[in-house]
Amino acid sequence: MWNSIKQAINGDKKQKNKSRSPQKIQKIQKQGPQISQIDPKLQIQNAYKMIELGMKYYQNQQYSMAKVVLVNSSQVLLPVIKEKKQNQEDHAAEYQELIKAINTAEICTQKIDQIQKNLASQDPYYKQIIETAMIRKCDVSFDQIIGLESIKNQLEEVIVLPNLRPDIFTGIRAPPKGILFYGPPGNGKTLLAKAVANQIKCCFFNVSASTLVQKHLGEGEKLMKTLFKVAFLFQPAVIFIDEIDSILSSRSSEEHEASRRLKTEFLVSFDGMQTTDQDRIFLIAATNRPQDIDGAVLRRFVMNKINQTVKILIDQPDQQARLGLVRSLMSKVNHSIQDPALDKICEKLAGYSASDIKAVVKEACMQPLREDKNAIVAMSAQNIRPVRKEDFEFAINKVKPSLNQKQYQEYISFNKSEQ
Ligand SMILES: Nc1ncnc2c1ncn2[C@@H]1O[C@H](COP(=O)(O)OP(=O)(O)OP(=O)(O)O)[C@@H](O)[C@H]1O
Ligand SMILES: [Mg+2]
Repeated sequence: MWNSIKQAINGDKKQKNKSRSPQKIQKIQKQGPQISQIDPKLQIQNAYKMIELGMKYYQNQQYSMAKVVLVNSSQVLLPVIKEKKQNQEDHAAEYQELIKAINTAEICTQKIDQIQKNLASQDPYYKQIIETAMIRKCDVSFDQIIGLESIKNQLEEVIVLPNLRPDIFTGIRAPPKGILFYGPPGNGKTLLAKAVANQIKCCFFNVSASTLVQKHLGEGEKLMKTLFKVAFLFQPAVIFIDEIDSILSSRSSEEHEASRRLKTEFLVSFDGMQTTDQDRIFLIAATNRPQDIDGAVLRRFVMNKINQTVKILIDQPDQQARLGLVRSLMSKVNHSIQDPALDKICEKLAGYSASDIKAVVKEACMQPLREDKNAIVAMSAQNIRPVRKEDFEFAINKVKPSLNQKQYQEYISFNKSEQ
């Protein structure tokens, strides 16, 4: 990544054409925060302040914080330098600062790797969390998630921006401690959490029952404790607990000792998670069975002014989102369906989850291939007949929504009871 930045600015002959629109750089800029059209001088000042802050974090050995701030500062500085270079203005000072930020961020990466290796070699629980839950790379982007616009905006405000600019979101602006995504299966809860991880480029821990439910008594709770400890060490960090109901379900009389202790450890760790408003650990939990979650856990996800946490219903797609989904899934498929017919198809898909819709589209798109299987082998791709609305009618009859109306209403009632 850094080499391509350096090359893009240096603009040596071989790289010249590439550097005007190098894919990597475009990707870096796209993935970073949207930089508004503000005065370049102000932008440079902001970037310098961020580099100063990053260097402070670095000197305090807060390497992950330093890395996030420095990477972000380079994303602010890079377009300004490129602009100056194009206008043949002097940009030596800014270039020096950029290189300082890049090099320090690189050292931070090495330090973080080293710390991880040391921790993993010292303690088996650290090792297990670092090896099984810590994720460096997630490929899901917000653009791939269709619909859910207001939720994506909300996530920008409560997670993405505070992690990119930890210096600004402090005090009364400090982000909440956590979010609970709940709702019918297959509508993007897991996708959203992964897109957040991709966007903030911070340390992401992906945990599910298989990571924490252990054979031996006491191991699960130790792993839970270690998870929060490691997240604290590598903050800014996001802990994502998928299917939280299976780990933290309501207590019952025949409850196993291990799961009771796991829950208690979760509550203690979660309560102690942000001791100061400088701490940047954020919890995302997801469930399609919110009614099964322990009441004490659910109560933690209540919005209040001091320690806000929030519950968000990830609902089934509405007509517009259904249209968006079908269009995006069909974008590379030859079809003969006009807009009014597509509207009608999507109306019939009311009550289907996003993943049900994916199954319907797949079924419809397979239809042309099923007519003469022998011919397919010799046929060129252009000769496959377009998908027609009749294929969708067939697919809708075949693929039924995974939830019935009664099951869906349970989510809506839960949502109402939580308002
Ligand atoms: N909003 C969406 N936009 C695009 N694709 C989606 C969306 N929601 C779901 N999908 C598709 O459905 C699949 C399942 O989504 P995801 O795993 O996020 O669902 P979930 O809400 O976490 O379900 P569960 O409650 O069963 O865990 C995704 O891999 C994706 O292909
Ligand atoms: Mg999921």
